[in-house]
Amino acid sequence: MQENVKKRIVELRSSLHRHNHLYYVVDEPEISDAAYDRLMQELIDLETACPEFIEPDSPTQRVGAPPLEKFETVPHTIPMLSLENAFDEEEVLAFDERVRRFLKTDLAVLYTAEPKLDGVAVEVVYENGRLVEASTRGDGYAGELITPNIKTINTIPLVLIETDAVPVPARLEVRGEVYIPVDAFKTLNQGRLDKGESPFANPRNAAAGSLRQLDSKITAQRPLEIFCYGVGVVTDLEFGSHWEILEALSALGCRVNPDIKPRATLEEVIAYYRELLNRRHECPYEMDGIVLKVDDLTLQKRLGEKSRSPRWALARKFPATQETTRVLEIDVQVGRTGALTPVARLEPVSVGGVTVSRATLHNEDEIKKKDVRIGDTVLIQRAGDVIPEVVKVITTKRTGTEELFQMPTACPACSSQVLRLEDEAVWRCVNANCPAQVKERIRHFASKRAFDIDGIGDKLVGQLVDKGHLKSYADLFFLDETTLAGLERMGEKSARNIIDAITSSKETTLARFIYALGIRHVGEHTALVLARRFKVLSALMLATAEDLIAIDEIGPRVSQSVRAFFDNHENQSNIERMLVNAGVRLSTEDAEEEESLAGMTIVLTGSLESMTREQTKDRLEALGAKVSSSVSQKTSFVVAGKDPGSKLDRAKELGVKILDEGALIHLLSRGKPYGEG
Ligand code: IVH
Repeated sequence: MQENVKKRIVELRSSLHRHNHLYYVVDEPEISDAAYDRLMQELIDLETACPEFIEPDSPTQRVGAPPLEKFETVPHTIPMLSLENAFDEEEVLAFDERVRRFLKTDLAVLYTAEPKLDGVAVEVVYENGRLVEASTRGDGYAGELITPNIKTINTIPLVLIETDAVPVPARLEVRGEVYIPVDAFKTLNQGRLDKGESPFANPRNAAAGSLRQLDSKITAQRPLEIFCYGVGVVTDLEFGSHWEILEALSALGCRVNPDIKPRATLEEVIAYYRELLNRRHECPYEMDGIVLKVDDLTLQKRLGEKSRSPRWALARKFPATQETTRVLEIDVQVGRTGALTPVARLEPVSVGGVTVSRATLHNEDEIKKKDVRIGDTVLIQRAGDVIPEVVKVITTKRTGTEELFQMPTACPACSSQVLRLEDEAVWRCVNANCPAQVKERIRHFASKRAFDIDGIGDKLVGQLVDKGHLKSYADLFFLDETTLAGLERMGEKSARNIIDAITSSKETTLARFIYALGIRHVGEHTALVLARRFKVLSALMLATAEDLIAIDEIGPRVSQSVRAFFDNHENQSNIERMLVNAGVRLSTEDAEEEESLAGMTIVLTGSLESMTREQTKDRLEALGAKVSSSVSQKTSFVVAGKDPGSKLDRAKELGVKILDEGALIHLLSRGKPYGEG
């Protein structure tokens, strides 16, 4: 009996390790989440019944270690060096020259070029294939022992994979960067703001803070990931080049960034830098530059190191995304849910190529915490497509003339009362008919991803609300040409066009409709989830809070807010006016379309002219495809835009089908690749 249990436990563990690797590292799951959960539950049950069989590297042991009292310090067997920085192309050319002079060669040196991730460097030690210890870089010579925290990260294997090509070494020290992906960071921070906690300044700080938790249960809740980029001590294996090291790490089950460019000439490295700089804000992770490393390990050895950094590597940094400027005024914006958001009006400044003249201050507590005053010189930052924010005040620049900011005691738009609920960090205007809220709701309703009504911009909505023509978005469908033509700077032709746009927007999908309603906490994705589950609006309107919570991905917050929205009489009457009187028609197209690309794995590379990477990904996913970041045998096809990266080379190598932008558009409209039906 015991023997059988033990056998099954071993089987389950190895199966779970394998599926974990397929899901998190390779990004190509073979079984559904539900099937994975069942295997895990079976293992938990067996281990609970027979705790004597629990081992530290069991997949059940990722979370649950008791909190530490303090972090211990451990020395690194081989120091974790830092990198020399280059801030322009000349410095890169000079580096290459220096390398060749040192090596006394006129021949081109090949480099492996990698994205430089902005996270926390760690070292993870495996003995006979099992994760035994993990530490932070620290000062390079010794770091803090954070093994329980590292084990919570799903992209880090607890046991290595043994293959004929790469046998598991007796000791392997893997080095890499732990980071938080940009999207997950946004969600994490929004959650903190909602709970009245202060947001992290950037993904790097969030990653560092998450790894420095004494209680690994907190770390486990943070969306940490790793990319491995090097090794410390390795026994039993021999490598000729850096790229071989990365390939071996990958074979052993460690996650290696698929955007790495192997063995590139100096010219290719420079082109790679430009490509990544262009794609910088489309990448799922934050980078602050690229790292180029002399690929040949014999050459690396000859080059050796200076005091703190190797002579064979260089970080080419991207232009800064932080700048300093002055706060001219603090404005208060009223959002569509009534939330008052203080926004700093700034002396315009260029940050990473974009002019920034406003930055969010989030809420009252944040202003107090950062002590931002009108007239202050501040450090601002722009990360990805996140709204620019004020990082901190440069207090040494204070002159004494700065003014303290006071949150208004009434709504700046309608003078109604403002309220701050006990568990919230924001003040809200209580008047649902507040013109600022109404304008924001209508703007959202007509926006591209919602009803997609062309020509309904800020100014027009502003005029229509102020003149009393629009009280809610439902009124849009009852506008007439004469009313529109009577507005400032509006000709008959434009009026006609707008009415046409409104009319043709009446045919839409259930998912877009739900999103357009502007229900608090219901973004595009949640709207799609709801549309797929309920198929028709009436079913959603009748769903109880329990029905809603029972859906995967829907929590109590969303369920409560959906219920509250549909219980409101005004909302009910708006919906009725749109669907019954105005003739808005909802199809469940999104839900049906879902299947047309189901089972396909698609990889995107390069930039497209007609849409951003985010949009492409959203649309492919809406059709049921999986968008993966790495090319493999299982990739259905690769979409190659302008300046494609190494993924295109890899696709050619593997003979994976390649589509250009035209073919992609065809695919999105038909749901099938060219020539198939
Ligand atoms: S290699 C001797 N590769 O940059 C080489 N570092 O300034 C040492 N980093 O502490 C590091 N991405 O935290 C290397 N692909 C990459 C990297 C990378 C990010 C960080 C790492 C390191 C710092 C050095």
